[in-house]
Amino acid sequence: MAEADPCSFSSFQKFVTRHVSLTWNVDFCRRVITGSVALTIEAQEKQQNSLILDTRDLKIQNVLFNGQEAQFSLGTKHSFKGTPLEICLPDEMQRGQQAIVEVFYETSPAASALQWLTAEQTLGKLHPYLFSQCQATHCRSLVPCQDTPAMKFTYYARVSVPKEMVALMSASHDGNEPDPLDANRKIFNFRQTVPIPSYLIAVVVGALESRNIGPRSRVWSEKEVVDKAAYEFAETETMLKIAEDLVGPYVWGQYDLLVLPPSFPYGGMENPCLTYVTPTLLAGDRSLSSVVAHEISHSWTGNLVTNKTWEHFWLNEGHTVYLERLIAGRMFSEQFRQFKAIGGWKELLHSFKVKADLKRDNFNAFLGFLKAYIQRFAFNSVATDEWKTFLYSYFKDKVDILNAVDWNAWMHTPGMPPVQTKYDTTLADACISLCQRWSKAKTSDLESFSAADIKDMSSHQLIELLALLLIEDPLPLTHVQRMQEVYNFNAVQNSEIRFRWLRLCIRAKWEEAVPLALKMATEQGRMKFTRPLFSDVYKFEKFHDEAVSTYRKHRTFMHPVTAMLVGRDLKVDAEQSTAS
Ligand code: BES
Ligand code: ZN
Repeated sequence: MAEADPCSFSSFQKFVTRHVSLTWNVDFCRRVITGSVALTIEAQEKQQNSLILDTRDLKIQNVLFNGQEAQFSLGTKHSFKGTPLEICLPDEMQRGQQAIVEVFYETSPAASALQWLTAEQTLGKLHPYLFSQCQATHCRSLVPCQDTPAMKFTYYARVSVPKEMVALMSASHDGNEPDPLDANRKIFNFRQTVPIPSYLIAVVVGALESRNIGPRSRVWSEKEVVDKAAYEFAETETMLKIAEDLVGPYVWGQYDLLVLPPSFPYGGMENPCLTYVTPTLLAGDRSLSSVVAHEISHSWTGNLVTNKTWEHFWLNEGHTVYLERLIAGRMFSEQFRQFKAIGGWKELLHSFKVKADLKRDNFNAFLGFLKAYIQRFAFNSVATDEWKTFLYSYFKDKVDILNAVDWNAWMHTPGMPPVQTKYDTTLADACISLCQRWSKAKTSDLESFSAADIKDMSSHQLIELLALLLIEDPLPLTHVQRMQEVYNFNAVQNSEIRFRWLRLCIRAKWEEAVPLALKMATEQGRMKFTRPLFSDVYKFEKFHDEAVSTYRKHRTFMHPVTAMLVGRDLKVDAEQSTAS
């Protein structure tokens, strides 16, 4: 018996969704999507009563069950699950029997999955822009559905948009046609023929252009950055080939990239056929392309083999980070892969603020296991227990080793993993020693620093240097001022460097860095950057009010989820409703 999903009202033990067919009209004036969804559902056991779908802030007009009007009701709104939609079955359903449930509905302008941008907020300034972000539980604000990663279905979509604009989805494009109902509009058709979980439904509408970057890849963005993006992500096909070599064929056909407006809240999002990335990756030197390697890796771990519920999220992200680093290892060097692993470990350590105990462990056969796991569970959703059972069956001659693993510590004990791998520290050593020089320096030592300290360091190493300095106690103001003098970090545009540098300055209470930090926090909205920058300024007592007033001023232009979370961080009440 399948376990339940605590994030969903839908009872996927009773029904499964096989296919979803969307008919949408994107209304930029009202900031809503109107239309319908037809769900092909299948009873898993004899059913007499009702079917429950997840919704959030949706207006439901009517429901048809096999073409016949059906009774429905919305329950009470739950804090994070949204509102259950209960649909009465007009007829009894037998086990295995399928039906088409069609829901006519409208989204809310505050839908948590959607950000609506005015033309003014875009690069081109001529057309508005819409994008979705459904992971983890926001699809229900876009489509009434069984919004759980335990369920996989194929989807088709027909999307009507203003005719000067382009619609893209996490699917193959299946042609356009004029909208027969409105001469100013155009319909884009899509098909996703590989079954996907609801959180991978994605839609974007904007003045988009594209460039070819490989035999199965285009990069999409507003025209102002499309050439820069084509340069930045030119390694995409190389990465895809390495990934295929590691874990098997890429089953999704096209692999396109979409560079979103700066308010996109994540670094990347693995929407099938169309990875979304933040424009903060456009460093000009391809140095932040590991995010693309990460999203490519999700094509196997996440999209092909999917975590059954969000409690098993590590199955998606853990295997994906492992693959992301193997790709980096093949592209650059094994030394570089291990450098990234050390950085990742430190980041994890810092996030727990606990001490690690150092042991040695090496599990080279893991890639063989991962490949077999992907083959075994392709097109399915998996829970941690199933992963573990498969691990034991794959390593049946190594049961002793597996039994010696402290599974309870790994899976159920908060804090660091119970073992630590030893890595090649060549590239990390330069960062560690320079970090130590700065953190131990007395005022009289400051003269000894010069631009030569960092002239042989890569941008990856500069990021790591600053990350290490952020773990230490705040530097004195004199130190960061000297650092600016000799390294001129204020001039660096690379977002990962700039972010850590500005945090370091704020921690050192350098007042001149406050406007720069708030500028970065608001000019882009990647939550990894925006939330800590706002919080750091907020904690700098003298600028507490400025952080709050800057937030209030920008809130209506921010992504609904970012606005909600920054508001929570800064303890500002949601005076006007953004998203739930
Ligand atoms: N799928 C995640 C992003 C995500 C996770 C969105 C949970 C919503 C809920 C994506 O693959 C990811 O991990 N992105 C990272 C970058 C990556 C290189 C670690 C990010 O956005 O920072
Ligand atoms: Zn990820």
